[in-house]
Amino acid sequence: MTDLNQLDDASAEEVLRAALDEFGDKVALASSFGAEDVVLIDMLHKIDPKAKIFTLDTGRLNQETYDVMDAAREKYGMTFDIYHPDTDKVEKMSEEHGFNLFYDSIEKRKLCCGVRKMDGIKRALSGLDAWITGLRAEQSVTRVDMKKMERDEGNNMMKFNPLMDWTEGDIWNYIRENDVPYNALHDQGFPSIGCEPCTRAVRKIEDFRAGRWWWENPEQKECGLHVKEAVKTGS
Ligand code: ADX
Ligand code: SF4
Repeated sequence: MTDLNQLDDASAEEVLRAALDEFGDKVALASSFGAEDVVLIDMLHKIDPKAKIFTLDTGRLNQETYDVMDAAREKYGMTFDIYHPDTDKVEKMSEEHGFNLFYDSIEKRKLCCGVRKMDGIKRALSGLDAWITGLRAEQSVTRVDMKKMERDEGNNMMKFNPLMDWTEGDIWNYIRENDVPYNALHDQGFPSIGCEPCTRAVRKIEDFRAGRWWWENPEQKECGLHVKEAVKTGS
């Protein structure tokens, strides 16, 4: 069994095994079905097909994202827990601020992420002792200090980031070698994919997350799922 305190140099598979050994059905992968997450789904399927996986369906995802979810369901036969936003809150938000509020201000963008993602993740994480993500250090200035295993103080649980030291090239080599289903938008210039209205394609010279909330500064480009302090509505 891998020592939980010795995971810095462990492979992604070793980190996943250690997480499952330690936390069993009290740990789950958070999957947006981006390139990193489909790699982790493939690995988890090989380690334990009953491993828990959840996704937050914000209601504003691209058709291509729903397509890859179904392709993965079919290939792996695994159950994905789906979390939708609270209907009353979405109705109230749209009535008060319109459908495209995220372009108006950072506050309104965070309100939308709060309603469409943060409420869902709070429900998804409740009852768990640990979660797994597809975060990589290379993705953003906001992610360079993260570890393969870290304490998530905001959620009072452990967080595993098995791909922390993987490069984009490593991800694509794994996808090709293992014939992993992936989001078709990745072939159309989208390295990082979130909700449809808040994601655009990037040019080769632009950075990995340049197409996410492209009208905001890099330091602000987190929806709240991975802020250190807390998972709180509208954060
Ligand atoms: S985000 O915070 O900016 O949206 P990003 O798209 O880079 O995050 O994804 C980083 C990790 O957050 C993913 O690998 C996944 O673990 C988790 N994640 C992001 N979006 C979702 C989602 N809709 N459902 C479940 N997990 C997600
Ligand atoms: Fe709303 Fe955009 Fe956040 Fe999706 S990414 S929840 S559409 S603000």
